[in-house]
Amino acid sequence: MTQIPLICNNISIENDRLLFAGQDTAELANQYGTPVYLMDENRIRERCRTYLGAIKQAFGGKGKALYASKASSFKRIYEIMKEEGMGIDVVSSGEICTVLKAGYPLSNAYFHSNNKTDADIAYAMDNGIGYFVVDNTEELLAVQAMAAKKGIRQKILLRITPGIDPHTYAAVSTGKVDSKFGSAIETGMAEEITKLALLQENIILSGFHCHVGSQVFDSDVYLRAADVMLTFISDIKQKTGYVAEELDLGGGYGVRYVAEQPEIDIRENILGVGKFIIDKCAQLNISVPEIAFEPGRSIVADAGMTLYTVGSVKKIPGYKNYVSVDGGMTDNVRFAMYGSPYTLFPAKGLHRPFDMRCSVVGRCCESGDIIQNNVPMPQDIKRGDVIACLTTGAYHYSMASNYNRIPRPPIVMLKDGESYVAVRREKVEDLVNLDV
Ligand code: LLP
Repeated sequence: MTQIPLICNNISIENDRLLFAGQDTAELANQYGTPVYLMDENRIRERCRTYLGAIKQAFGGKGKALYASKASSFKRIYEIMKEEGMGIDVVSSGEICTVLKAGYPLSNAYFHSNNKTDADIAYAMDNGIGYFVVDNTEELLAVQAMAAKKGIRQKILLRITPGIDPHTYAAVSTGKVDSKFGSAIETGMAEEITKLALLQENIILSGFHCHVGSQVFDSDVYLRAADVMLTFISDIKQKTGYVAEELDLGGGYGVRYVAEQPEIDIRENILGVGKFIIDKCAQLNISVPEIAFEPGRSIVADAGMTLYTVGSVKKIPGYKNYVSVDGGMTDNVRFAMYGSPYTLFPAKGLHRPFDMRCSVVGRCCESGDIIQNNVPMPQDIKRGDVIACLTTGAYHYSMASNYNRIPRPPIVMLKDGESYVAVRREKVEDLVNLDV
């Protein structure tokens, strides 16, 4: 029997069939159709509790975990975050609107992004956003102007660039000095924007934020980021007397897409960062700010799986084999964008030898529409078979497109042996509805 990499403990094999969260994937494909995104609700809740528990333990009952909802934004996920006591990171009016529809209190939300429009700023304020995470000087002044117009005092964090290379892929590396995000310490811009923020009448500066990157496996990165940020806080205190109350260290912990990648022990990591921060603050003689982490991927990624149906199997003798499925770059753009690795295998017949190598490709009119290359599959894989792609809970639905006017798949939640639709399948009519 071929060795199946069970890269997360919500994946299992029973009677030759692939189970996800204890449920038969072939049956789910049959019930809901394909392509379909599955989400394991218990896994999402377990990850929230891991973060919240570790943060409270590390910081004597204080501290926050904010779900970076760009990883996957839909109404049901915000309801779950509300129930679990998670804060939220949002980046657009679209995400804010979804948060509000879910009945999640916007006062627990942090509004990120490097370019908020005046309309975004007004919309967020009108709905009582908790914090703006201000990226740059123009934005600071725009938030100040809008807060003055509305007669409020708005809490903000300033996004600071600590000058750290997280050694992940370039598209998600954000902590380096030349990043498009934030104000760098090295260039003096961070100090400048802090002083400017302190002068604004309608702004309450609550503290600072940094985010060094995503899919980070090197736990040292968070210690270095904390080191740089606390030194900055101490420096600012000496220069201006301002004491930061909050420090948000961003998100980024990596997850396992393939067996070769390690599984990060989030609890151990956060406890380590906590100890480092407490020692460092004592050394710098500053009080420990309230610490926030902002995980996205590590909350939802391995709670997700996509099921596809095979349409054609093309074997080009002497060259390569293609297995085409009924989804592709429209529901999973990550291989096309970043060359990301994935684990795929059939939903049934797992005893067969995986004796063929193939590219699993989508249905778009584009050669780059590939989900993964060099995938081991059984020789006799054929039209109508269901294939599962693992670890698709983060940055899949939220990055899905309608290229080639392909409707987006539904999200089906799995919980305690039951399943329910959280986002319905898009219909072709939905796509035409916007055309006037
Ligand atoms: N906080 C901020 C300010 C961020 O920009 C991000 C991610 C996070 C938190 C959450 O990071 P996470 O825990 O998910 O790594 N589309 C890419 C990932 C882009 C990440 C953008 N920012 C991908 O599919 O790999």
